[in-house]
Order: sequence, then structure tokens, then C-alpha cells
Amino acid sequence: MPSLLESFMIPSAMLADIEAKGFIDLHSHVLCGLDDGPSTMEESLEIVAGMSDMGYSTIYATPHQRRDLYAPLPERIIESTAGLRERLRLDGATMKIFSGAENCWDDLLFEKSKKNEIITYEGTKTFLLEMPGFLLAGELSRQLFEWRKEGYLPVIAHLERYIDTPNLLERAGEMAETAVFTCNLEALGGAGGRRAVRVAREAVSQGIARVLCSDIHGKAWLKHTAKGLKWVRRNLPKGSDELLLRSNPLLVLSGEVPV
Ligand SMILES: [Fe+2]
Repeated sequence: MPSLLESFMIPSAMLADIEAKGFIDLHSHVLCGLDDGPSTMEESLEIVAGMSDMGYSTIYATPHQRRDLYAPLPERIIESTAGLRERLRLDGATMKIFSGAENCWDDLLFEKSKKNEIITYEGTKTFLLEMPGFLLAGELSRQLFEWRKEGYLPVIAHLERYIDTPNLLERAGEMAETAVFTCNLEALGGAGGRRAVRVAREAVSQGIARVLCSDIHGKAWLKHTAKGLKWVRRNLPKGSDELLLRSNPLLVLSGEVPV
């Protein structure tokens, strides 16, 4: 009889790595020199150490994929992930690092989508998607349907950033069975503007956002992630940190939408 974890569609080699206890971050800019994340390996290591102190055991590196800003090639992301992983191994650190990307809703993404080359979380058909300012509910829900037909599961980054979308939470709620909405911990902790903070807290409290991410860009960001975690533990039912930062991310990596 397979264990719950073994029954997920995650490749077994990776499963062995993830199975260790700890939070799983599905959105981070931890690799150096690829985007607006850290510029040195030393800072990447400081971020990893800080995340480890907060209880993370697995980080998915998701550098930007935006035609207008940063679009490192998949080979570079994989190479950079391997470099950080090797450095951590040499240092004796236990943090597991996997590759991914933060795919912006732009022509680059749609070119990749046509060729079935969207950069997903390593070894899965789940990918991180960033919207360009608005949620674009109509187009998004049509496209989500297409992606789901093709076996992809989109994970939508930082719902609270789309605050200028009319009826944002209602629209997200309508799509919450076909995609996974996430909020950034820093917004829960009180950073990023009053409206964004309110939206993030409501989205999580109402169960619309079912995964929480760091979206960490540098070591100075660690304190915001920590504040968000503190807010979760103080304001949500007991065990919500495990649910939103471990159990639900595991489901998402296996291609399922958490309920
Ligand atoms: Fe990001």
C-alpha cells in the first residue's frame, strides 16, 4: 500500500528529498544573478540559512520569465539551481533546492505554451504564473481550462498584487477550483500597502488562497517572511502553517488543487 506521499505523482527521487519535514516554498528568487534576486552566491546562502531557521526544508527557485525584464534560459536556471544545491551540499546544509520559474502572462509564455515548454516546477506539470497587474478574469479562466486539459496546473502568484481588479476576491474565488491562488507572506505580515495586506488576509481567511509563499528577493526580505508566519500562527486556526506551507504545496506539486 503506497503512503500518501508515494501516491503523489512526484518522481520518487525527488520525493525522497521532499519527504523530510519542513515548509515548502513555491515562489522564491533565491538564485543569484538571474533576475532581481540576490546578486551573489553569499546572499543566496544567507537567504537559505534564514529560511531554514524559519522551518523551511524545500525551496523552489522561481526566477522571473518576463520578455520585458528577465528571461533566463531554462538551461541557466537548471545550472544555477545545481550550483546552489552543490554549494549547500559542500556546506553540509540540508535545504533542498529545486528549479522552477515565475512565468509572466506575456507573449513569451504563450510561445512556450504552444510548444509545450512552459517552465514548470522541476519534475512536475505545475507552474507558477504571474499576472500583469490585473487578474484578467475572463481570459484567465478560459486559458486555465486549456492548460488543465493539457495536464498543467497553474499556481497564481501573489493574489494581493492584483488589487485594482474589480471584485478581485469574488473572481479569484470562482477560479479557485481550477488554479491555485497564493499570497505572499510579507503581505500577511503587514508589508506592501494597506489594501494589499487586507486582501491577502481576507483571501487566506476565506480559503481562496491556499498556499503561502515567500517570494523572497534578498536577505532583507527574511524579516517580512518571518512576520507573515507570525501572523498566520496568531490569526489562523492551529496547524494552518503546516497546511498552507507544506501539505497544500505537496498536493499542488502532485497536480491537485487543495480543497
Ligand atoms: Fe516573484
